Amino acid sequence: MDQSENTTANPRIAAGAETISDIIERRLSRRGFLGGLTAVSGLALAACAGRPVDAAAAAAHEMKRPAPAFSFPEIARGLDQTHHVAEGYRADILLRWGDPLWADSPAFDPLNQSAEAQRRQFGYNCDYVGFVTLDPDTDGAPRSLLCVNHEYTSTQLMFPGIREDDPAGITREIALTEIAAHGGTVVEIRRSAEGWKPVIGSPFNRRLTADTPMQITGPAAGDARLVTGEDPAGRNVLGTMNNCAGGITPWGTYLMAEENINGNFLGALPEGHPETDNHKRMGVPGGWYGWGKFIDRFDVSKQPNEPNRFGWIVEVDPQDPASTPKKRTALGRFKHEGAESVVAPDGRVVVYCGDDQRFDYVYKFVTAGRYVPGETNANSNLLDDGTLYVARFNDDGTVTWLPLVFGTGPLTPANGFSSQADVVIEARRAGDLLGATPMDRPEDVEPDPKTGRVYVMLTNNDRRKPGEENAANPRHSNRFGHIIEITEPGGDFASETSTWEILVRCGDPSIAEVGATWNPLTTENGWLASPDNCAIDAQGRLWVSTDGNDDTGAADGFWALETDGQRRGTGRHFFRCPIGAELCGPRFTPDGETLFLAVQHPGDGEGANFESPTTRWPDFSDASPPRPSVMVITRIDGGVIGG
Ligand code: FEO
Ligand code: CA
Ligand code: CA
Repeated sequence: MDQSENTTANPRIAAGAETISDIIERRLSRRGFLGGLTAVSGLALAACAGRPVDAAAAAAHEMKRPAPAFSFPEIARGLDQTHHVAEGYRADILLRWGDPLWADSPAFDPLNQSAEAQRRQFGYNCDYVGFVTLDPDTDGAPRSLLCVNHEYTSTQLMFPGIREDDPAGITREIALTEIAAHGGTVVEIRRSAEGWKPVIGSPFNRRLTADTPMQITGPAAGDARLVTGEDPAGRNVLGTMNNCAGGITPWGTYLMAEENINGNFLGALPEGHPETDNHKRMGVPGGWYGWGKFIDRFDVSKQPNEPNRFGWIVEVDPQDPASTPKKRTALGRFKHEGAESVVAPDGRVVVYCGDDQRFDYVYKFVTAGRYVPGETNANSNLLDDGTLYVARFNDDGTVTWLPLVFGTGPLTPANGFSSQADVVIEARRAGDLLGATPMDRPEDVEPDPKTGRVYVMLTNNDRRKPGEENAANPRHSNRFGHIIEITEPGGDFASETSTWEILVRCGDPSIAEVGATWNPLTTENGWLASPDNCAIDAQGRLWVSTDGNDDTGAADGFWALETDGQRRGTGRHFFRCPIGAELCGPRFTPDGETLFLAVQHPGDGEGANFESPTTRWPDFSDASPPRPSVMVITRIDGGVIGG
């Protein structure tokens, strides 16, 4: 979700106090794309630069082109009312907003949607998709759990008669239905000759919503700043919301990242309230939803601490639908985009997180304890104890991971921190004081356990002014984003020092002013803008989905992106969304033969609403609004996605 208007700017930027002066453009001549391009022939460079190329030489060059890592036929950029996938592949709908999850779930009825129905149906705006393999059933059919986040609700697309600029039209029932449409879904899926299908009524099926009871654990649990009228202990909270990307841990739990939580709060704090600056740094109250009109805890004038109970990473055991999800406060509170994890060589677990806001930061959390394969109890609370680090991307190509530890450096009572609880509740401010590098909206951060590399999606930042560039965010007015590749030394993901390169600066390479840096082997369809989510497939290849490519006049979608050899930095277009949608949740099965994609907010657009969406995908019925859906992609002839 692009929440451009959501919050206060990072005060270091607002105050002009960033360390821009010592992080300058010169690295770009050495780093960024050219570092990965040295092996590409001069001929290819000449062609890219638009210089005339002799036909025979071009033909000879064609023969010598490095073999691509991907062999699917590329699709064309474009924008229309439906989705498109590469020839030779099929894309099927697995679950749509409102689809029943149990036999007694009400059928989807968009004119009479209710909270009661929504709690028994697939939620809205699917985002993260996690895949947890189960033992095969008694017939030997493959079974898995799909863990799907429902990031937010698009009120005007979901309900008749609502205008985006008219929150007064929202009723209590609409608010409760939206609360039930947030959160996540755990659903069993089974594969038969017809492909993967949901198991309606599986005992594993579960809806998590913005009012599901959850426990708060870690350093902020029980802290006075988490106490509310409903929870004097500060340890029990109702719900999770704004669940953007996430992760599956090595021990098979489902991590849900709470992102734009500010938008769900209304009201105003009393003058001089001690949470004023904290709430401002998170953009609370955003006032995008009418929930606070009907439910006191979403009105900060009534429950000023309630926002401190959101913005965390939530851990869910998807194999136990009766389990209580836990908000793991050790991983810090900010606008968490995702939570992909990996085991370091010494057994500690490392979770990477982006804070999706202009000028906010990249983090990693390193557990104190070690992962023990197969030992459920030993692993179950690993995320409660460890060190949260924030990234400083240095001009010399190194990353310094700065620990957010109470009592060290500036994180002391002199700066308003009286405990580790304060540090994690105000992780953003701790990062400000430590000198973290303000980034261009960090979204997915994905470690590759086989290579020790970590990919950071930076969606865009059109508010970075000239002079505010830094080496890792080299473009001002960065409308199209870029992708950074971090290398953890020797594959030690727990390292406190890493190195970094820009893999690609996104946008249209044919427009010089854009400053994109694609490998010249990238075709006119192969470049992308606004990278958001990503996935590494079973072969270790990187794929990227976008949120904002439509800014370039073509739909958001999914691209393969080469990271090695002479084709490093070459994109290839695989899937395209219907109009209005961004693409989320890319998830490959371990065999690489199935890909799940989440099509979020189809039919959205300027002035779009329930009555007049920009598309009625995927049902294309006048009786149906557009429905965010998870899709299943397979090869028609079987085999590995991408070739
Ligand atoms: Fe929810 Fe950062 O996209
Ligand atoms: Ca997004
Ligand atoms: Ca996202």
